[in-house]
Parts: sequence; C-alpha cells; structure tokens
Amino acid sequence: MSQAEEHAGTRRDFLYYATAGTGAVAVGAAVWPLVNQMNPSADVKALSSIRVDVSGVEVGTQLTVKWLGKPVFIRRRTEAEIEEASGVDVSSLPDPIAQNANLGGDVPATDANRALDENGEWLVQMGVCTHLGCVPLGDAGDFGGWFCPCHGSHYDTAGRIRKGPAPRNLPVPVAEFVDESTIKLG
Ligand code: FES
Repeated sequence: MSQAEEHAGTRRDFLYYATAGTGAVAVGAAVWPLVNQMNPSADVKALSSIRVDVSGVEVGTQLTVKWLGKPVFIRRRTEAEIEEASGVDVSSLPDPIAQNANLGGDVPATDANRALDENGEWLVQMGVCTHLGCVPLGDAGDFGGWFCPCHGSHYDTAGRIRKGPAPRNLPVPVAEFVDESTIKLG
C-alpha cells in the first residue's frame, strides 16, 4: 500500500468510528474538512455508511448526526412517547405510509413500522422537513414530536406528519443496530 493510500485509509477509519454522544456535533465538524479534501469516489465511499455510538443517549433525548450531508435524528423515546404514537389510527394520518427504507413499499405507518428496534425505543429518521427541507425542532409542536417552524408542520412522536403543509412523514433511512450501543446508518 502506498503512503497516500494508507493515509486515505486512516481518514476513512476515523470517519467510520467517529463516535457520537454529546460530542457528536463537534466530531462531525472536525471530520468534515478532511472529507472534503478527499477525491469524489473516496468521499462517497466514506460517507455512504457510518456508525454512531448511541451509548450516551438518555431516554427522552435525541442525538443529531450528519450523514450524506443531511441531519439524522436518533431519538431514544420514553414509554409515553411510544404509547402516544402506538395509539394513533393509521387511516387518520395525512401520510399513512411508513416511509421506512428498511421496509420499503407501501407499508402502513404504524409506530412499529417506524421504530428501529422491537421495543420501539429507538427512532431514527432524516431531520429534513418533507415540505421544503427545513430542519424541524425536537420536543416541539402540537403532537409532542417535531415542529418545523418554516411553515408550521407538526410531526408526532413517531415522526409522522399530523398537521401543516408537509406531505410526508419524516423518512426513516436504512439503519440497524450492529451491537447494543452502535447504530449503522446506510
Ligand atoms: S419546510 Fe417545513 S413546513 Fe415548510
């Protein structure tokens, strides 16, 4: 391996294993300039999949990480948030489709079809409003989930659009737990 290749590999490894937790935003900011210096193919390869350490995420809080240039919300939900979302009649939703890339197709937008894990504790979704792309605020809005202040879209605790101009639920990206404290995106 040439010295240049070795150097690139080191950078990629650093990105893959950049941990989240409270320092996530700072780590992301530090990594970004390095990635931008890489050539396009290496850039795409490095960013297509990342691992996020969620061991520091408390129940009732959310971690935001940057992936493929966009924010991703990783929320560890409370029992109350899960119950609230589970009790909703899917047919009453503006967007009754789960919008979950892990499931695909026209899967109903039940809470179980939106959550990452069997207990429904973890919800991973793109932090991009489906109206015109603003970043919604957490713990906000009429349904206790997310609120987009740009034009007033309210999402519930499962990230489903409930009120306002946004046409779709917040998209759930390809994600999985690769061990008990690490979520892989992509
Ligand atoms: S961009 Fe979110 S409501 Fe318009």
